Amino acid sequence: MEKRARISKTAAMIKPSSIRRFFDISANTDDCISLGIGEPDFITPLHILKAGMRSIGNGHTHYTSNIGMPELREEISRYLENRFNVCYPPSDVIVTVGGSEAIDLCLRAVLDPGDEVLIPEPCFVSFSAIVTLLGAVPVPVPCYAENEFALTAESLKSKITKKSKLLVLSYPNNPTGAIMSKEALLSLAPVIEEADLTVLSDELYAELTYEGVHCSPASLPELKDRTVLVSGFSKAFAMTGWRLGYTVAPDDILQAMLKIHQYAIMSAPTAAQYAALEALKNGMPDVLEMRAEYKKRRDYLCDTLKMLGIDCYVPKGAFYAFPDIKKFGLSSDEFCDRLLAEQKLAIIPGNAFGECGEGYARICYANSIENIERAMFRLEQFIKEL
Ligand SMILES: Cc1ncc(COP(=O)(O)O)c(C=O)c1O
Repeated sequence: MEKRARISKTAAMIKPSSIRRFFDISANTDDCISLGIGEPDFITPLHILKAGMRSIGNGHTHYTSNIGMPELREEISRYLENRFNVCYPPSDVIVTVGGSEAIDLCLRAVLDPGDEVLIPEPCFVSFSAIVTLLGAVPVPVPCYAENEFALTAESLKSKITKKSKLLVLSYPNNPTGAIMSKEALLSLAPVIEEADLTVLSDELYAELTYEGVHCSPASLPELKDRTVLVSGFSKAFAMTGWRLGYTVAPDDILQAMLKIHQYAIMSAPTAAQYAALEALKNGMPDVLEMRAEYKKRRDYLCDTLKMLGIDCYVPKGAFYAFPDIKKFGLSSDEFCDRLLAEQKLAIIPGNAFGECGEGYARICYANSIENIERAMFRLEQFIKEL
C-alpha cells in the first residue's frame, strides 16, 4: 500500500519559529548574554508564589469550573473596569491557559477556511501560524518606524478585501514597543465598521506602558461589540510559567470560545488561578515596581543605542527595543548570527516578526542593567569590527 503522509499538509506548511534557533544556540554557548527571550527576568512576587503553593497544600488539586473560578472571574471583571474601563460582568470572563490559549480560542471561534486575517506587522509570531493552521489566510499590514510602528487607517484600508474577517491589534507591541492611542484607535473605527471586522485585541503588555495611556478597543463604544480582549498574568505579574490568561468577548463569540475551551482544555491550572487571584488582590504594587525598573532599563538601553549611533524608535510599552540596523549593510539574519557567533550576544532578527521587520533586530530589556551594560559593550565591539 502506498505510504500516506503522516503529517497534515497544514502542519507541514508552518515554519518553525526562527526565534527558537537563537534560544537553542545561546543556551548551549558558554558566557552568552541573551537579550532574546521575551519574558520577565523577575521571579513571581513571593506573596503570589505562596498563594499558589498554599492552594496545593490545601488540597485544591482538582479541575475548577470550565470557565474559571468564580472569585477569580469577579476580580478580573473588577480589574478590567478599574484599570482600563472595560466593562464585562464576571459571567463573561473565561480563564485560559495563558493569553496563548485565549488567542487560539478566538481565532478558532471566528475563522473559517479562506477567511482573511489582517495582521499589523512586525508582530508576535503566533497569530499568523495559528491562522494558517485553521486554513485561513494571514494578510500582513506593514507598519513603519516613520509612524512609530502604529497602524494607520490608510494602510489597513489598503489590505481589506471581501474576505477580510478579523483584525489583530496587539499593543503595546511585541517586538516594536509601539502603542495605539485612543485617537489612533478611533481613526481605525470607521474602516473596521465598514468592513465588518472582528477585532482580536491582545493586551498582554497593557500594564507595561511607560508613556501615553493604554487604551483598549473594548473600552470604546465604537469598537466594544466587535472586540475580543485577550490578556493574562505572564508579563505584568512575572508569571509566564504559571500559564494563566483570560478573555472577555461579545456573547456569541464568548459562547463559541467556551465550547472549544470545554472540549480542548477543561480548565486552566488550579494553583495558577489561586496565584492569579492573589496577584489581582494584592499584586499591583509589584507591577508598579517592576514597571519602574523596566522603564529605567529601557532608558539606559535607548540612550546607549543612541550613543552608538544606532537609530531606534523609543518604545512606549512592553519590554523590547527594535533598532534599525540597515546602515551596517547586513541582513537581519546575518547581523544577529554574526553577533551571536563573534560576541556571544543573542538578539532576534527583526524579520522573525514579519517581512517588514527586515533591517531591524529585537532586543529584550527584561534583564538586569548589568547584563544590558555588558551586552551593549559587546554590541559596540561588534559594530566597531564590522
Ligand atoms: C504579544 C504577545 N501575546 C501573547 C503572548 C503569550 O503570552 P502567554 O504567556 O500569556 O501565553 C506573548 C508572549 O510572548 C506575546 O508577546
